[in-house]
Amino acid sequence: MNPIEQLETEAIAEVQAASSTIELRELEIKYLGKSGLYTGLLRQIGTLPAEEKPTFGAKVNEAKQKLQTLIDERTEALKSGERAAQFEAERIDVTMPGRPLRMGYEHVLQLTSNKIKRVLGGLGFEYLESPELETFAYNFDALNYPPDHPAMDEQDTFYIDDTHLLRTQCTDLQGHVFETTKPPLRAFTVGRTYRNEAVDRTHSHTFHQVDCFMVDEGISMAHLKGTLGAFARAMFGDEVKIRFRPDFFPFVEPGVDYAISTPKLFNGRWVELGGAGLIHPNILENYGIDTERFTGFAFGLGVERIPMMAYGVDDLRHFLENDLRFLEQFRAMA
Ligand code: FA5
Repeated sequence: MNPIEQLETEAIAEVQAASSTIELRELEIKYLGKSGLYTGLLRQIGTLPAEEKPTFGAKVNEAKQKLQTLIDERTEALKSGERAAQFEAERIDVTMPGRPLRMGYEHVLQLTSNKIKRVLGGLGFEYLESPELETFAYNFDALNYPPDHPAMDEQDTFYIDDTHLLRTQCTDLQGHVFETTKPPLRAFTVGRTYRNEAVDRTHSHTFHQVDCFMVDEGISMAHLKGTLGAFARAMFGDEVKIRFRPDFFPFVEPGVDYAISTPKLFNGRWVELGGAGLIHPNILENYGIDTERFTGFAFGLGVERIPMMAYGVDDLRHFLENDLRFLEQFRAMA
């Protein structure tokens, strides 16, 4: 076999055995490239007798042509197979179900708070806010707590420094309002409150309160009872009854706690909701309000109590834990 035939046999065997277009490209360089084996073969032309030179050159070129054609054909053939494999690897299954979109909705406490705002707003009370990071002065002093009174011990909280604390009650709103507004006035707030308290099913370190009050001429316990009755009916339905029992809070006189009863909840048993009373004259006088002319009522209650009672939630810690299995049950309220 002459060297041209030998090289051709090797080249054809390799091209036929190649299994990818990348391999073919490498073979193309190996045999037909500038420094390829055929170029090397052509260089031998100098060593040949003059009469053989033209045929040798022509044969090498012919062999190169043949190999190029073969490589091109093989490349075409492998390319379509490779493309098909790539499509298969990158295939998207358009029949697969999509990822479900989770729709957000309001937290049950937010829904309760929205309802409270609608009801008290509808009764003519203005919604206002007071700071959660409050001063001792607004949380206690302004509310007629005598210095070192034991009532403050019931509301131990988280102190930021000697004068700032996380408010224990939304009644802190009163001082802010009395400082800036003259009666007649009606205001309420709904917000977060804190107490340094042993946590159990009905007590948390962080909870929410509604606090509502009004000052006008001739305000009495009857107005308080009427307002609380309307509030309770809106929250728990028309059959609800409301009961007052004497209680002590430094900022009201007389002071009561109030409970509600409805056949729909706990078989009509009385359930305590919060505290209330007529605003203590000391407070009104401290803010220059004429107590001969003006009196006021105030009430406050825990927001968590409302959905706990209405939906039979037995542990208020659920409200803070953000477990969707719990929260999603209130989706229908939204
Ligand atoms: C007060 O906070 C008074 N400011 C209420 C008030 C306002 C009385 C205006 C008179 C006039 P008390 O400490 O009882 O009162 O709390 C009121 C309600 O907040 C309770 O009935 C309860 O529902 C809720 N509450 C109190 N402590 C916690 C707690 N640790 N976790 C959850 N809810 C609580």
